[in-house]
Amino acid sequence: MLDLSDVSIKEYNELCTSLVEEQKLKPTIVQWQCTKECNYHCIHCGSDSGKAAPDELHSREVLPVIDDLANLGCQMFFLTGGEPLLREDVFEILDHAKDAGISQTGFATNGYAVEEYKDEIARIECASIMVSIDGYGKKHDQIRGVPGAYERAVRAIDILKKDIGVPWVGTCTVFREENLPEIPKILTDLLQRNFDYYRLNSVVPEGRARGLSNPPSVIEKALRFALKKRKDEGIPLVMGENLGFLGPLDEEVRGQPFFCGSGIGTLTIMERGEIQGCNASDFVHVNEGNIREKNVKDIWWNGFHQFRTGIWDTLAEQCLECKYAVQCRGGCWKMRITNAQFCYLDIAEKIAEEML
Ligand SMILES: C[S@@+](CC[C@H](N)C(=O)[O-])C[C@H]1O[C@@H](n2cnc3c(N)ncnc32)[C@H](O)[C@@H]1O
Ligand code: SF4
Ligand code: SF4
Repeated sequence: MLDLSDVSIKEYNELCTSLVEEQKLKPTIVQWQCTKECNYHCIHCGSDSGKAAPDELHSREVLPVIDDLANLGCQMFFLTGGEPLLREDVFEILDHAKDAGISQTGFATNGYAVEEYKDEIARIECASIMVSIDGYGKKHDQIRGVPGAYERAVRAIDILKKDIGVPWVGTCTVFREENLPEIPKILTDLLQRNFDYYRLNSVVPEGRARGLSNPPSVIEKALRFALKKRKDEGIPLVMGENLGFLGPLDEEVRGQPFFCGSGIGTLTIMERGEIQGCNASDFVHVNEGNIREKNVKDIWWNGFHQFRTGIWDTLAEQCLECKYAVQCRGGCWKMRITNAQFCYLDIAEKIAEEML
């Protein structure tokens, strides 16, 4: 990965401009928010899922876009939602991505239908599948609004890892004050099973999670926990990107330096064909174009100004004056546009001083 620690804003802009002009930027990771339909009712659901959105993309619209993305250099095609396993054509589409030359495919799931589709999932040979768990046992069921959801989720992990042998099977917990005490219990259960990573994402206050932002005290507790588990016990726990640049804790709690790839190395297709840097359902102003109206190559090469050299116009004064401006570029832009706190550097520096 490119070391940005000694790069100035001017040098960054020159580099970015030349990569765009020479068409060297690739959407290496593409995420498709493939439906709004969901059989769960999670309290924190940022995509406000439930019923399918009117006029969601049909497979005949998506398949040629996948070909274009493969030509642009996409290496990972990952489905999210809603619940991807509720789309009838999900396996046809993931098959197509492989046939188009995209080497890795995957999806996030609530785990409900994994057992039912076990044979299909085995056949399509995904590289990575993420099963969400937000609490231990009944607490998970309560947060997700479905009795038995926890049992389904852990059974899904066992099927995916032990029975099918998916290379990367992970779990993500969206943490808030309410479920913070659940995290050690979830981890203990996971450690008795086979899994490859455990991800902790702070809640983004969008969709049904509007108004559910984490206070700094919750972030601090989660960071301390993550650091301890990684450093002292070597557990593959990963803190999500939405806490932004964490200075001395950055690599310690993520295993790699912070980098938001939106519009630089990643793009997202929304349910009805809008293209965004990363899925922000509530915010049409971050749409870069719609694949129903424009070719995705055109959108990739001529859009995304706000994530490339134009990013500086979107940042607060505190970021423009910060010595980490280029490494961080204002942290997670979804946190910024949802008016959540987006800089946790001071908390990270305090923890690093005490614990490293
Ligand atoms: C939107 S879901 C879609 C896939 C599937 N239905 C599931 O629950 O895993 C993908 C991931 O985003 C997480 N997520 C949902 N709302 C969120 C929010 N407001 N902030 C952070 N993560 C969120 C979910 O918990 C899940 O781990
Ligand atoms: S987080 Fe996933 S399972 Fe929960 S409501 Fe949203 S899309 Fe459905
Ligand atoms: S002040 Fe801005 S640029 Fe600096 S670390 Fe915080 S979010 Fe990043």
